Amino acid sequence: MTILVTGGAGFIGSNFVIDWLAASDEPVVNLDKLTYAGNVHNLAPLAGDPRHIFVQGDIGDAGLVGALLAQHQPCAVLNFAAESHVDRSILGPGEFIQTNVVGTFHLLEQVRDYWAALDALAKAAFRLLHVSTDEVYGSLSASDPAFTETHRYEPNSLYSASKAASDHLVRAYHHTYGLPVLTTNCSNNYGPLHFPEKLIPLMIVNAQAGKPLPVYGDGQQIRDWLYVKDHCSAIRAVLAAGRLGETYNIGGWNEKPNLEIVHTVCDLLDELKPRADRQSYRSQISYVTDRPGHDRRYAIDARKIEQELGWKPAETFQTGIRKTVQWYLDHPDWVAQVQSGAYRDWVAMQYGQA
Ligand code: NAD
Ligand code: TYD
Repeated sequence: MTILVTGGAGFIGSNFVIDWLAASDEPVVNLDKLTYAGNVHNLAPLAGDPRHIFVQGDIGDAGLVGALLAQHQPCAVLNFAAESHVDRSILGPGEFIQTNVVGTFHLLEQVRDYWAALDALAKAAFRLLHVSTDEVYGSLSASDPAFTETHRYEPNSLYSASKAASDHLVRAYHHTYGLPVLTTNCSNNYGPLHFPEKLIPLMIVNAQAGKPLPVYGDGQQIRDWLYVKDHCSAIRAVLAAGRLGETYNIGGWNEKPNLEIVHTVCDLLDELKPRADRQSYRSQISYVTDRPGHDRRYAIDARKIEQELGWKPAETFQTGIRKTVQWYLDHPDWVAQVQSGAYRDWVAMQYGQA
């Protein structure tokens, strides 16, 4: 039984596809537009594996999505594809609306048509799983309880507003057409293959390059951090046994202020790859102007997924962040390729475009 994954060349999607094929023989059709965030080299461990079919394309391309569904007859569609970086959404929200809202709409339309034409057995087994974020719930004060699945949607950034819109579309396709959907809302991920524009990989990469470590505002903004492989296992659990039409929060029970995250990264680098002058990488920390509209705190109450599906993260922050820093130290070629943009040369060669 084939699954169709969208956005499977990005950070979480590529980790998901690699883990899926390590655990199962069910083939994956991987549809990814290969924006700046999509990197086919993330999928290098699958080179030559006939169970992985990579297709460069847009979730908003109804003709392409319809043809892929008809050809491969997947039993599930998992939607990871999105514009995902808050800072980019502040600079230019257009692509966020296009992919996260309009793209998701076109995907839903194609999936609805495909699903409606399936025989009764296949129809009952089919699932559309939409991967979303805790940022749709907005910002918490220090004393607020963590987000539950019934927390009201109060997105503050253009990124979170576009993801919230996509969540609402998915919900409405279930309510109106009976489409068998599942939605997951996860906290901040970290781990291997993370594009170094996000906090943790940016700090690891800048530290080693001797560059400043830019901390926004006072660095006391709080996020809940989850190791990416734990997000992937949670998605597999929801796909296997989640109740139709339900949403599941996914989190690591690991709230930390940004400054503490940056200190931890610096301390690990001090231990694993000390600076030549033996000064701490902490000396590279530089406080910069805060992000406009910066959400102060996110926190996830992940009891529902644990109680209903028995899922819990396998990594603590201590084990996950050590693995992550070590992964970046072990993969300087991946970092160099991403920083130079060389990973896009392959796309130009393969597809005749940059
Ligand atoms: P990412 O930016 O690393 O990857 C996104 C992928 O989607 C890229 O490979 C990109 O090429 C592809 N893509 C973009 N537009 C597309 C389109 N129109 N058609 C097809 N492919 C397209 O993002 P990520 O961090 O891997 O996030 C994946 C999903 O998980 C997103 O939906 C995001 O909102 C959600 N999420 C991310 C986090 C996190 O901490 N990174 C946390 C919770 C939820
Ligand atoms: P980020 O990784 O962009 O994820 P998100 O904004 O989706 O939570 O940022 C995580 C936190 O780190 C967020 O509070 C913004 C902050 N941050 C910095 O302080 N400096 C940086 O250079 C970046 C990229 C983020």
